[in-house]
Amino acid sequence: MADKLAKLEMDGKTYEYPVLEGSTGPDVIDIRKLYAQTGLFTFDPGFTSTASCESALTYIDGDEGVLLHRGYPIGQLAEHSSFMEVSYLLLNGELPSKQQLDDFTYTITRHTMLHEQLMTFYRGFRRDAHPMAVMCGVVGALSAFYHDSTDISDPEHRKISSHRLIAKMPTIAAMAYKYSVGQPFIYPDNSLSYTGNFLRMTFGVPAEPYEVIPAVERAMDRIFILHADHEQNASTSTVRLAGSSGANPFACIAAGIACLWGPAHGGANEAALNMLKEIGTPDRIPHYIERAKDKNDPFRLMGFGHRVYKNYDPRATVMQKTVREVFDALKVNDPLFETALRLEEIALSDPYFIEKKLFPNVDFYSGIILSAIGFPTTMFTALFALARTVGWVAQWNEMISDPAQKIGRPRQLYTGPTQRDYVPLSQR
Ligand code: SDX
Repeated sequence: MADKLAKLEMDGKTYEYPVLEGSTGPDVIDIRKLYAQTGLFTFDPGFTSTASCESALTYIDGDEGVLLHRGYPIGQLAEHSSFMEVSYLLLNGELPSKQQLDDFTYTITRHTMLHEQLMTFYRGFRRDAHPMAVMCGVVGALSAFYHDSTDISDPEHRKISSHRLIAKMPTIAAMAYKYSVGQPFIYPDNSLSYTGNFLRMTFGVPAEPYEVIPAVERAMDRIFILHADHEQNASTSTVRLAGSSGANPFACIAAGIACLWGPAHGGANEAALNMLKEIGTPDRIPHYIERAKDKNDPFRLMGFGHRVYKNYDPRATVMQKTVREVFDALKVNDPLFETALRLEEIALSDPYFIEKKLFPNVDFYSGIILSAIGFPTTMFTALFALARTVGWVAQWNEMISDPAQKIGRPRQLYTGPTQRDYVPLSQR
């Protein structure tokens, strides 16, 4: 029985609802009985005040700019951990021992190849197809190839399909890039790390050996860590809702990829770099700041603002530091980084951004790094999807194994016509 109760007064009646407490963060009012008792729905478009589920994976304190994965701060994971280790942590709840990490990495490494028939699938796309269109299509098609792991009621099937999805996303993303530039696909090389393998499949060519640059491999791995999971964001909620119907995991992740593609969500990293390119030099920043503030102008500062963070996105902090590491490692410089730093400085001193608590988010600096490494902007969101797959898969597993889980089916505030009779065509 909950210690605290929330009271609702309606038409002279008092209704009480239990207030549930988590291990940290806001308490929730359990309104599961509201409609049965009062005939009322709650109304919360965009779910700004709604907890859709109970989860133990990721905690965000938006006011303090805190992001924890199974309790570990993102800054510590980015500095000390690896994407494989964070993937194990998200899936299993604890940091792995050396043996557990080796076994997990071995398993993932040996699922990196795709069914050879999928090569033909790629050839059906136009060469200029956006990589996210390819990712949506190919990941959705995986359920046509892996019938042996789509029984979601079987924990072993869930485990195999989870490992397959995490393992094959780098191969699928790299192949989408290769197809777009007309180069041959590069098969996985199991002697490389998860991230090193991805870099080789993306930038390697059969004509010569490919040397993974350790600093770039480290930066890329850290970018994957920063994108791994993020509580109940739009694409994760899409995966959970799709999974609540019992759909197979490949179809659910394909739905998550489709949602992530939107420029308000994962598509913002591509949009942010395109915005920086359009701004060009710092002297043009004030004009764009004014546009972003103009209610009549749909232009927004891409890579700025967040539904939850009303403080600096801790991932953006790590991302900004990583820019310099990659520039130093590759001995490159990109004047857009200076433009981005100046844009951040000006925006964060502007009352509009201060009042609305708009700070750079994970997408603001990532594109500069990815561009320096050699990715075209069209690949940025595909890389976000590659990394977020472990979060989607972990959230999907948590949802499926939750005894309280049921099909998600929101209601509505209906404002359309009330019942009326059909009018024959001759009388209209
Ligand atoms: C991601 O949810 C997650 O966790 C997502 C993510 C993850 O890891 O999964 O963190 C990844 O999606 C990061 C966000 C990437 N998107 C962008 O950078 C696109 C630009 N940002 C905005 O579109 C916006 O900030 C959102 C979509 C991110 C958040 O939108 P909200 O929470 O619905 O806030 P809002 O649109 O209601 O904005 C509040 C106010 C509005 O002004 P008013 O109507 O109150 O006058 O702030 C303004 C907005 O106009 N505003 C901006 C702005 N973002 C919000 N004004 C200018 N530039 C911006 N970027």
